[in-house]
Amino acid sequence: MALWGGRFSSGPDQAFKQFNDSLPFDYQLAEHDIVGSIAWAGALQQVNVLSEQEHLTIVDGLQQILQEVEADPLSIASAGDEDIHSYVESKLIETIGDLGKKLHTGRSRNDQVATDFRLWSRKTAEQLLKAIAALKSALVTLAERELGTVLPGYTHLQRAQPVLFSHWCMAYFEMLERDEKRLQGALERINVCPLGSGALAGTAYAIDRQKLATDLGFSHATKNSLDAVSDRDFVVELLSCASISMMHLSRLAEDMIFYNSGEAGFLELADSVTSGSSLMPQKKNPDALELIRGKTGRVFGAFSAMMMTLKALPLAYNKDMQEDKEGLFDAMPTWLACIHMAQACIEGVKVNAEKTKQAAQGGHANATELADYLVAKGIPFREGHHIVGELVQLAISQGQNLEQLSLSDFKSVCDVIDDDVYPVLELQACLDARKALGGTSQKQVQFAINQAKQAQRIIVRDATLDDVDAIAGLIQYWAREGENLPRAKSDMVHSINEFAVTEVDGKVCGCASLYIYDTGLAEIRSLGVCPNSEAKGQGRALVNHLLEKGKKLALGRIIVLTRVPGFFAKLGFADSHKSQLPEKVMKDCELCLRKDNCDEVAMDFVIDSAYQQEIPCKVVA
Ligand code: ARG
Repeated sequence: MALWGGRFSSGPDQAFKQFNDSLPFDYQLAEHDIVGSIAWAGALQQVNVLSEQEHLTIVDGLQQILQEVEADPLSIASAGDEDIHSYVESKLIETIGDLGKKLHTGRSRNDQVATDFRLWSRKTAEQLLKAIAALKSALVTLAERELGTVLPGYTHLQRAQPVLFSHWCMAYFEMLERDEKRLQGALERINVCPLGSGALAGTAYAIDRQKLATDLGFSHATKNSLDAVSDRDFVVELLSCASISMMHLSRLAEDMIFYNSGEAGFLELADSVTSGSSLMPQKKNPDALELIRGKTGRVFGAFSAMMMTLKALPLAYNKDMQEDKEGLFDAMPTWLACIHMAQACIEGVKVNAEKTKQAAQGGHANATELADYLVAKGIPFREGHHIVGELVQLAISQGQNLEQLSLSDFKSVCDVIDDDVYPVLELQACLDARKALGGTSQKQVQFAINQAKQAQRIIVRDATLDDVDAIAGLIQYWAREGENLPRAKSDMVHSINEFAVTEVDGKVCGCASLYIYDTGLAEIRSLGVCPNSEAKGQGRALVNHLLEKGKKLALGRIIVLTRVPGFFAKLGFADSHKSQLPEKVMKDCELCLRKDNCDEVAMDFVIDSAYQQEIPCKVVA
């Protein structure tokens, strides 16, 4: 059933219908269309368009459709309706009768599709974030396993300088970390709710759009109805995140294809991610990696197609925008599949450390070391560079590596070279020399691995009611130890909004809260970490999370009272004095048993420099 037959005297031409219909692909939005519709029904009840009973009947009907849809999503695709919105509406009318016709009051397919698509994008982005985290951790595991394996590093695909194989792993870790952050940023902008924007001008019903947004798990409602129905930046952003990340994956794939080649022989891929040739029995082809490399093209294609489609589109909704879906529906699962496949390749790979070492030793990869040696002997670098060039030529003519030249050979080109040159030219010396931050020395690579492992295990997030028991356990423990003030469980429930927690390997292991006084001054309180947790950095993660929250809330100054001033000083807190904190003194200190022999140091973190002066807080009561 079309939603708009009234104005037309004849139906659409069959070819046009086929051309126009989006159900064959937007059926994938079914779940989100129904969830959005349930929230919309709630909003309609609040403005008395639906009675309580009507609301219940509609929600029941929609839930029934949701179950059917979940059981067999593909069957919708060929139902013949114009799009998923028409499909759900006619299904509802079929299920509960004429009452279903009330659901579309005050709503347009334009705000509906924008909402559905954002819900789909949010769910998909969350899946991708998990997949990226898993690939990152596979890379760290490989880096740790292979620590010590030497690899020739390349520039221009010429052997340049030796690096640790683990350094190579951690380079891809860095790229994926950026991909992850980029996607997290995009997710913030995806997570706004266009529902209630109508066709373009807003809805004529007094809908509480903020509540509607919250009901659907969005962070807030969009602010301009014209923009809300025509904004597809989130699609472009997702495709751009996908493209950049696919570019990284394609480079990883290419490196591994080369390392796996017969010529290099550095790696052996697992049977599970390779295939054979129908003709040549000896072959084991790196198909998984080649497909990652190949699929990158189609993700880039979806990105540029979306940019082209949106270019110069007039406000507000235009049917061109229906073209937003197929590209994203294809690109996101492609990206996800490539991440999974890259993980499988990394997890199953065998490294031939003998071969990589041999290759790192060849190709005169220690030539830079020799130049640095000459610099240490007082020869200007440019001159040294030239001398080493001549020595490389000599070595090549003798079919040798630099370190195999005899001392008289060295002296024939430059007589300041002595016996002490040989240790400098050793592979290990070349690696050890790169010991500044970010370099390939074993110490630095181990440091990078440690940092990555720590950050991976610890997640910091705002608390939910599900965390109350864990928080209560931590607070009680530290109160018994005399480190923190006790708090009643009811207080924790009441102030759950103030809390952040850390999770280590999925278990809540730390908590802290940000209490805001009625003057606007804020205090970090109840900071505590499981005494037996080995994951370092939780306290830092909690404080940084709360400082970020403070910035978002436009707080001016955050204080702490602590017995570990050194810890807070490292995080940017400065010494203060209780006399500067009348709010705190009145709230806690007056009642505290240690009132007159308190050993806590008052410190503060100034977010807004206006607070550095005498003004104790932003809100003047
Ligand atoms: N199938 C359409 C799309 O994907 C839904 C919105 C239709 N709106 C309209 N005014 N025809 O964009």
